[in-house]
Order: sequence, then structure tokens, then C-alpha cells
Amino acid sequence: MEESRKKFVGFIDKALATASTMHRDELLFSYKGIPYPRAFYSPETFKALESFEARSDDVILAAYPKSGTNWLSQILTDLIAISQKKTPGSESSVNAEEPEEFPYLEAGDAEKFERMTKLPSPRFMVTNLRPENLPQSIFKNNAKILLLIRNPKDVATSYYHFSNGVTTVPSYETWDDFFTDFMTKKTAWGCYLEYLSEWNKYADKENIMTITYEEIKENPALSVKNIATFFGIALTEEQLQLVVERSSFQSMKKNSDKTHGSFGKVLFRKGGVSDWKNLFSEDQNVKMDKAFEEHIAGTTLGKKLKYDLYCKA
Ligand code: A3P
Repeated sequence: MEESRKKFVGFIDKALATASTMHRDELLFSYKGIPYPRAFYSPETFKALESFEARSDDVILAAYPKSGTNWLSQILTDLIAISQKKTPGSESSVNAEEPEEFPYLEAGDAEKFERMTKLPSPRFMVTNLRPENLPQSIFKNNAKILLLIRNPKDVATSYYHFSNGVTTVPSYETWDDFFTDFMTKKTAWGCYLEYLSEWNKYADKENIMTITYEEIKENPALSVKNIATFFGIALTEEQLQLVVERSSFQSMKKNSDKTHGSFGKVLFRKGGVSDWKNLFSEDQNVKMDKAFEEHIAGTTLGKKLKYDLYCKA
């Protein structure tokens, strides 16, 4: 395990180091109207991504940052290893744990898409992009997408703490300042509620499965089972338990030094539901409730988020 994620951790460490030399105002750049962290992304890579050719057996995880992307990446990596008759965590699965390419599709150099044409199936990739900014071949070729969503108040809360823990995005002196930027499309990856409403246009498609952070927390075994079924991966009861155990917050936090390097300390923070109650003021609650109502309430994804249960005091 220790050796297996060297390249992955190296990629993140390099981005963190690059960003630490940048001025706050230089950290983000805008592409098609959305801000992105310069240390991970470039306009050249975004441009090259347009002609990326997806395969029908690609395994794609789509999520807005802070929704639990790394959690689901762990689950999917283990499920892929199982589909290849490997035992997650054992010596034989080392190759599955160390991705050939940094799995965030839009991050890295523009030549990566050419290299990816040579990778064997199934290729695993993660994307934080909105669907309209993804290569059209993903939808045309019916690649399967697991869409992970989380209640917006906890996303904002997690994001605020993250901003103050890493060098790659601007930090904030106060939660109030962060909240204002988060609600006015100034934070990296753009407006989360717009992200949800764009993805909602795809939510009923057969090759897209939507899952919420909260439902995985509520019943991890059932969630892993459903994800495996969606991707056509058969699991024994023992394998299911192994995947659930290895992806628990405690296990991932304990292993984070090896899997994510110094980044792990920031990433695996609380891993719970409703931490927003420690930050949101009455006025901020009203603003988020109103924005949710305007953008997404009543839609497929809006209902799935169970906003009244998870976001009302
Ligand atoms: P918190 O900051 O609320 O703790 P992402 O991976 O998309 O950046 O999301 C990070 C969030 O997912 C963090 O939320 C982190 O703690 C949480 N997380 C990571 N691994 C988890 C796990 N195994 N179980 C539950 N939550 C997890």
C-alpha cells in the first residue's frame, strides 16, 4: 500500500507546492465562466479534453468537490479490483490502487488523453465538471456515471475548512466572507446549486446513477451493493464487508498519510452530517434555503437530497 500511491500523492504534493508560491489573486483562472485552481488545471487541458474519446465500460465518478469524492473513489477502486479478481488491500491489487494517470479527468497535462487511449478497460476517472463541460463522447458512448451529491450546507461547510487548509484555493479570514463568495459564484468550481441543476438534466438517464453522501452514511453496505450492481460487478458477502470496512471514515483517515500524503490531514476532517449547524447564521440559512428553492427544489436531484431533513434546523 505504501508504495502503491506514490505517483498519486506526488501529483497532489506538486500542486500544493506550486500553489504555495502564488499570490492569492493568481490561484484561480476562469474557463467558460467558471473559476478553477491553476495548480491543477489549465486551459490547454480543458481544450484537449473536448476530443477525449470515452468508452462504454469507463467507470466515471462525477461530484462537486467536498461531496465525498475521495470516499467514493476508494469504494470504486476496490470494486474494480474485485471485478479483476484481486483482493483489495493485498499485494496483488497494488496496480489497481496506484492509478496510471491522475484519475481527475480534467486535471493534469494536455497529453494525458492520448496516453489514456492505451490504458486497459475498465478505466476509472473522476470529474468535478458540470455535464455541459464534459466531452460529449461520455454521453454518446453511454459510459456509466455515478453522480455523487451532498446537501449544500455541508458542502459549503466542508469547503470553507478545506479552503483554509490547502494552498491551491484562496483562504478566508471568516466564514461570512467565504459564504458570500460561495453564494456568488466566486469560489473554485463555480456555483454548487447551478452544478446540481445542470446535472439534474441528466439524472433520469439509464447510464447515470445518483447517490447521496447522506444515504451512504446511513447505510454503507446497501449503498456499496447498489453501486456494484449498477456497474455490473458481482460481490460476495465477504467482499462487500471488506469494501465497506476499507471505506469507513476511520479506516480512510487512519490510512490517509499513505493514500493522500499531507493532503489527507485536511481532506478527512469530520466525515459527518449536519456540521453546517456550527457555522450558518439565521440570515445565511434563509439565503441558502431561498437559493435551493430557486435552483433545484422539486426536481429529481432536489428531492433526492431530502433538503428538509438535512438542511433545516
Ligand atoms: P467534511 O469536511 O465534512 O469532514 P471530497 O473528497 O469530495 O473533497 O469530500 C471531502 C468530504 O468527505 C470531507 O467532509 C471528508 O471528511 C468526507 N469524507 C471523506 N472520506 C469519508 C468517508 N470515508 N466517510 C465519510 N465521509 C468522508
